[in-house]
Amino acid sequence: MAGLLEGDIAVVTGAGSGIGRAIAKGFAAVGAKVVVADINEAGASETASMIAQAGGEALSAVLDVTDRASCAALAEIVAQQYGATSVLVNNAGIVRREPITADKANEDWDAIMRVNATGPYNVTKAFLEPLKETKGRIVNIGSIQSHVHTGNAVAYTVAKHGVLGFTRALAAELGPDGIRVNAIGPGFIRTPLNAENRAKTDTEAQFIGKTPLGRAGEAEDITGPAIFLASAMSAFVTGALVPVDGGYLTL
Ligand SMILES: NC(=O)c1ccc[n+]([C@@H]2O[C@H](COP(=O)([O-])OP(=O)(O)OC[C@H]3O[C@@H](n4cnc5c(N)ncnc54)[C@H](O)[C@@H]3O)[C@@H](O)[C@H]2O)c1
Repeated sequence: MAGLLEGDIAVVTGAGSGIGRAIAKGFAAVGAKVVVADINEAGASETASMIAQAGGEALSAVLDVTDRASCAALAEIVAQQYGATSVLVNNAGIVRREPITADKANEDWDAIMRVNATGPYNVTKAFLEPLKETKGRIVNIGSIQSHVHTGNAVAYTVAKHGVLGFTRALAAELGPDGIRVNAIGPGFIRTPLNAENRAKTDTEAQFIGKTPLGRAGEAEDITGPAIFLASAMSAFVTGALVPVDGGYLTL
């Protein structure tokens, strides 16, 4: 796969941890200059250092995907320091699991919608011009919950169904500009996002029980599919969601 993203400038949101970090490292390893964007400054610079130590090129940046001014500021910085962004990965996300009757349900609904549904819209809007200029590629991180629900996660399920709709609508609208828009639907992936849940509940065992490949995923399981969707290997693929879930959706 060496060189698959040579010459590309890739912005990965939420790249200070988990899946975003794995994608950023994978992109750099196949030649992209990577912008590691995250609300968590320390996490972002740690990822950028890992990439530099491995011989790649990365710029770390603070970004809050819920803040349109922050998204516009990042687009400006990337344009000045690197040039025209050709790959955007909308990966930043949060999860909160609770029933709709919980005291915090309203607050959590708003937070999840802001980050997981409106976030990808905000960042995409900010990077539209360079993506048009480069006939770029957008990869949105959905979920198995773009198709089904899992326990106590109404807001997250709605937001991730929204990511699938966003992917399809944008693929249709931006296809004539040469921009491809696809999504990845991870299954249960062991990252800091679900570390507390894994420690306190049997959620992981429940997922594995419904996963034909019989294991949880690791962040690195998402890297190859992300490179595929970001590179010319998927030149005629747009509007698709690739499940990366060990077969969870087949059951
Ligand atoms: N881990 C899983 O099992 C799983 C499954 C399906 C989908 N996903 C999705 O994958 C994506 C990455 O999740 P992960 O498991 O790597 O989680 P993670 O918590 O390890 O990483 C998420 C990153 O997003 C950042 N972030 C949160 N809010 C932000 C904001 N407002 N602006 C910018 N950055 C922000 C966090 O600081 C963090 O670095 C999310 O969209 C998540 O919904 C994860």
